[in-house]
Amino acid sequence: MKKVAILPGDGIGPEVVAEAVRVLEYLRDEGALGIEMEYGLVGGSAYDVHGQPLPAETLKIAEEADAILLGAVGGPKWEALPIALRPEKALLGLRAALGVFANLRPAVLYPQLADASTLRPDVVTGLDIMIVRELTGGIYFGQPRGVRTLAHGERQGFNTLVYSESEIERVAVRAFEIARTRTRRVCSVDKANVLEATELWREVVTRVAGRYPDVAITHMYVDNAAMQLVRAPKQFDVLVTTNMFGDILSDEAAMLTGSIGMLPSASLNETDRGLYEPIHGSAPDIAGKGIANPLATILSVAMMLRYSLREPSLAARVEKAVSAVLDSGLRTADIRQGGAAAVSTRAMGEAVVSALRSQLS
Ligand code: IPM
Ligand code: MG
Repeated sequence: MKKVAILPGDGIGPEVVAEAVRVLEYLRDEGALGIEMEYGLVGGSAYDVHGQPLPAETLKIAEEADAILLGAVGGPKWEALPIALRPEKALLGLRAALGVFANLRPAVLYPQLADASTLRPDVVTGLDIMIVRELTGGIYFGQPRGVRTLAHGERQGFNTLVYSESEIERVAVRAFEIARTRTRRVCSVDKANVLEATELWREVVTRVAGRYPDVAITHMYVDNAAMQLVRAPKQFDVLVTTNMFGDILSDEAAMLTGSIGMLPSASLNETDRGLYEPIHGSAPDIAGKGIANPLATILSVAMMLRYSLREPSLAARVEKAVSAVLDSGLRTADIRQGGAAAVSTRAMGEAVVSALRSQLS
């Protein structure tokens, strides 16, 4: 029996997670999946109850689970809190505590949604990029950090970009392994012309590449990569990069597809224990309205089935079900085209479950 922690979080988190849980429950009830689910509070909703965004009991539930499904955290209600108490801190705390150093962010253009991109169809049709972002190191976690007061009274903010060889090596290995399941091309993104830490990054990635002669390796400076992503994004297969560059480039890549409401993510540790979440945020403006798109969270469940629960055929079934629902023309408001009516979060979740059910007949 595998354990899955369910952390709905804030904003639209609980709404989209409810539909993803419906998918897990359906597979469980079908007898295809042996899982046990446990819920925890995270983010602002945890702060409201416990005075902190990542309470000890939530961390315990997460640490005991094989996989964690997280909705989203944050919202205007908690924006004025000190950094250490903000909902986003829970996310960073979970990543660090679980050691999920490899963050997989696919940017896939669904052919059914080709018109949603702001780029010309010929630039994005067939787009299928996997960004592998280092998630537990770099400038996000480097010490020293803070704001200090200089002798003449002026304040100075500082953060540290730091990477050890082993941190670079393990995420590079992940990227090359994933490339082997795809079109065998890795592009490593750095700023080796300016930053020593990423000069070392390039050196270590090059060394790892030597162990994967069947995978083509290229290196790109981050400014050029940002440009190439909008100029000719289909040149990329797997992109591997640092925590902060990956944060920025993954938002850019997500927008190439025009539908951030469709994109899942996985964050894995050494043993494939994973934290799964949609790429989109808590969208406070539409929270509680029942109109959010649950497909990114449902597709995060597919990634969970593939990477942590080791059920690749169930993962493929969930992805097929999502595709069938899109084929049938069902759209939530964020991916609607023209004047077509939008369906609710609940209706979209139910449609995916019926598509799963009809795969059996
Ligand atoms: C992301 C988010 C987070 C990050 C924030 C909310 C801390 O932007 O997951 O990309 O910067 O990693
Ligand atoms: Mg981000």
